[in-house]
Amino acid sequence: MTNPPTRWQLAGEDNRGYGRHFAELRASGSDIEGEARLADALAPRGARVLDVGSGMGRVAAALVARGHEVVATEPDAALRAQSRATYPDLAVLPHEALDLDPVDVGVFDLVVVVGNVMVFLGEDTERQVLRRLRSLLAPGGRILAGFELRGPKSGSRVYPAEDFLADAAASGLTATWRFGSYELHGPNDDYAVWVLEAGHDRRPSG
Ligand SMILES: C[S@@+](CC[C@H](N)C(=O)[O-])C[C@H]1O[C@@H](n2cnc3c(N)ncnc32)[C@H](O)[C@@H]1O
Repeated sequence: MTNPPTRWQLAGEDNRGYGRHFAELRASGSDIEGEARLADALAPRGARVLDVGSGMGRVAAALVARGHEVVATEPDAALRAQSRATYPDLAVLPHEALDLDPVDVGVFDLVVVVGNVMVFLGEDTERQVLRRLRSLLAPGGRILAGFELRGPKSGSRVYPAEDFLADAAASGLTATWRFGSYELHGPNDDYAVWVLEAGHDRRPSG
């Protein structure tokens, strides 16, 4: 079955500068590893980590540098090209989240879906994606998700916290933590960082 286009795809040219912007931040010495630091704290040493929608590779590369075995996947060809240019040693799959199969890629101690990926998914695919990510968790594995709640980016949706929690619950996931930033500020109305765990029923996505 064909997946619906992601909101990121539909935004097209409006988002073209994203990868270059982060490459420039990196070149200027700016901190672009906040998400990776929190992900590292959540994972066992030498963990298997999946970075879904890895963009220009900043989070995946920072996790590799911290000793994790990272599978990065990014469906946007321009971002994969930026990733190759910035982090030539980082392997990146072209899969979109709904096409990730645990038989092919294995299961993970931590699935990272940060930097607004959740608000750029295809319309009405949020539960499918969350179920799919759940099916990719190793026993005891967790998901780190983070996104802007008000959807101010070009082409992204507004994703209120209560809607995300309902989607997570319907997908067999429980939010064990909610923060307002990757530096663990308290919850706020602008940005949400979630840690999700699977329940006992781990049937693959439907
Ligand atoms: C704002 S960028 C974030 C990139 C990266 N996570 C970061 O933090 O630098 C949003 C990303 O979501 C990805 N995305 C949107 N829908 C997706 C899906 N269904 N599967 C995988 N990636 C998706 C886009 O391709 C894009 O790379």
